[in-house]
Amino acid sequence: MKKIIAAISLCLILFSLNLSGQTRKLIIPGEVWPDTDGNHINAHGGGILYYDGIYYWFGEARLPKGETDRTKYGVGCYSSKDLLNWKNEGLSLRVTNDTSSLLQAGCIIERPKVLYNKKTGKFIMWFHHELKGQGYRAALTGVAVSDKVTGPYQYLRSLRPNAGVWPKNFPEGYKKQKVVESDLKSGTEEWRKAIKEGLFVRRDFKGGQMARDMTLFVDRDGTAYHIHSSEENMTLHFSELTDDYLDFTGKYYRVLPGESNEAPALFYAKGKYFMFTSGTTGWKPNPGRVSSADEITGPWTFIGNPCRGSVEENNTTFSSQSTFVLQVPGRKNAFIFMGDRWIPSDLANSRHIWLPVEWENDTPVIKWYPEWDLRNLK
Ligand code: DGJ
Repeated sequence: MKKIIAAISLCLILFSLNLSGQTRKLIIPGEVWPDTDGNHINAHGGGILYYDGIYYWFGEARLPKGETDRTKYGVGCYSSKDLLNWKNEGLSLRVTNDTSSLLQAGCIIERPKVLYNKKTGKFIMWFHHELKGQGYRAALTGVAVSDKVTGPYQYLRSLRPNAGVWPKNFPEGYKKQKVVESDLKSGTEEWRKAIKEGLFVRRDFKGGQMARDMTLFVDRDGTAYHIHSSEENMTLHFSELTDDYLDFTGKYYRVLPGESNEAPALFYAKGKYFMFTSGTTGWKPNPGRVSSADEITGPWTFIGNPCRGSVEENNTTFSSQSTFVLQVPGRKNAFIFMGDRWIPSDLANSRHIWLPVEWENDTPVIKWYPEWDLRNLK
């Protein structure tokens, strides 16, 4: 009898391992990606931190359909040794029932990213934070900290960065312009020109600059930047973080002013900085963009659409939106494009689009592969 029970248990274990994707060998973009428990990875708009030989994938843990406990919303964390098989480490940051907290259930948390700070030995998480009942109006960035990579992260505060300071690359003349929003008809040439010349920077000067879609990037000299869509999503701001990564130094740069970029994802390769972004069409995909710069602080130059596929694929970034570029540790020129194929009616079920970054004359390009092997990354 004991032998029969042992045999049945073994079969069940093997069956569940197979179901849960333990044997996953390939990246299959756009399909359900089961974690080691067999559940689709619920970490969207995310990014990856490589720490002590392990990959940690942080992303939006959206409420699964039918889930009524709103505190199951926050930042999901998964760990992996091979980038294929991911263990759910639980919520590293979760919203609270405490109605006096800005992090109360009903708020929005998007595009979380985590860095390890060598100086303090702490893990720092930043995320786009919108307040309960206010739609996307607050445009804040939130910060949380932990001694342990998987968390729980302690929520510190949310803010609009760089209050009372001008961007480093903001001409003197722009500071003094008197034109205000109500003087202009939105969408006109004049309006666009005024935005490029800092209409919203001046408007938000006192209270701090808007911070929506965001990412983090540590430069080669160790300086960290918080990169966010600002100025009503019209301009990206590259804001330097303090050396403990917990605050802003007040040094920031406007990038691609008036060009409406969201979903920034940066990497450094072949002596240049590259950035994938999207346009601004809500959850709907749009043509991807790639820009480059010799210095992180710019000037940045728009190169074009990095996608190489059918017209439909190029117009929709393979039906996805960029979120992160992972440089495969130990591989100088091996990069993975990470994007989200959003399912607005069921965000938790949104799909992960991972594709290799390839090169065409030193310009990064992305091609579709229905499945691909990490070992083939060049
Ligand atoms: C586009 C952004 O890139 C997403 O992160 C999300 O904020 C949606 N807009 C919401 O419509």
